Amino acid sequence: MSDLAELEKQALAELNSSSDETGLRAWHSKYFGKHGAIPAAVKKVSEVPPAERRAYGQEANRIKEGLIKAYEERQQKQSETQLARELQSDALDVTLPGRPIRRGRLHVATQDMRRITAIFADMGFQVYRSREVEDDLTNFELLNMPPHHPARDMWDTFHTTTGGVLLRTHTSPGQIHVMRECCPKPIRVILPGMCFRYEAITTRSEIMFQQVEGLAVGENVSMTDLKGTITAFARRLFGNDRKVRIRSSYFPFTEPSIEVDMDCLVCAGKGCSLCKGTGWLEIMGAGMVHPVVLKNGGYDPSRFSGFAFGMGVQRISMLLYGIDDIRYFWANDLRFLNQF
Ligand code: FA5
Repeated sequence: MSDLAELEKQALAELNSSSDETGLRAWHSKYFGKHGAIPAAVKKVSEVPPAERRAYGQEANRIKEGLIKAYEERQQKQSETQLARELQSDALDVTLPGRPIRRGRLHVATQDMRRITAIFADMGFQVYRSREVEDDLTNFELLNMPPHHPARDMWDTFHTTTGGVLLRTHTSPGQIHVMRECCPKPIRVILPGMCFRYEAITTRSEIMFQQVEGLAVGENVSMTDLKGTITAFARRLFGNDRKVRIRSSYFPFTEPSIEVDMDCLVCAGKGCSLCKGTGWLEIMGAGMVHPVVLKNGGYDPSRFSGFAFGMGVQRISMLLYGIDDIRYFWANDLRFLNQF
């Protein structure tokens, strides 16, 4: 019994003097490990004379339980002290201003493409995606421009090394794809996407730019519908006070054909380098779908009619924000892009 009392005294003294996690672990294995002092003392019960055995056993258990409890308390205290120490040394000054996270955003061209799409969606137009790499047949021939037709000169073309395969010069070949897919149902779609032209790059012309094509086909679709649609669109996008000008034009795939201009925002109609001194900026070509094109799409021109338009998205952004040079769009200059 006196050995047990001595063991308890010594174990408690050592426990109280161990000040860190390593010390505590060493203490635990010394007293409670496989060959530890406590299991050894408990085992010794068999050597004690039978008359004292019960009392010895009870005392050994009491000491064992007491030491386990003291160990757990010490451990708890130890981790609290450790946490307090860490909080002290790694103190965080929450009053310091944070480092701003750099936020990305959509490119101005994407933003405007979405605005245009949303306006046409309100008018019941669905979005149809068409390919950027086209064949000569769809980009020109089926749009009423046979080989060697002089109107092809209106679209300076990037040809690929594969004969008859080219980068689309406009979104109009998409008209053929939609018509062939939807015929004989009525159509009301827009076809947004990138176009490519082998042109001199100037303040208003790029070699790649986005267009939004529009196509409506049905029975009794008229020029009035086209004018109404374009005017409603222009008013929604630019506001009621902006001026829209419609003048006659020529496209091989529409008859009659028109071109739509907006008053130049940069010079307020006075004339500048952007509008080539005219005070007007062309935003789209349009017209009534040519009977040959309707037929190529599978529609009978004696029963069906349609209108189509094609607008340049970058030209529209230029008007909206008064941007005087189209080259900013793909130059990736953050000083430009961050403004939108
Ligand atoms: C066409 O591309 C016709 N496919 C439009 C059309 C569709 C007419 C359906 C009738 C029916 P145009 O070449 O004019 O037409 O181009 C249409 C618009 O694209 C122009 O009004 C202009 O806004 C824009 N655009 C044309 N070339 C460039 C260029 N190099 N850079 C930027 N925008 C351009």
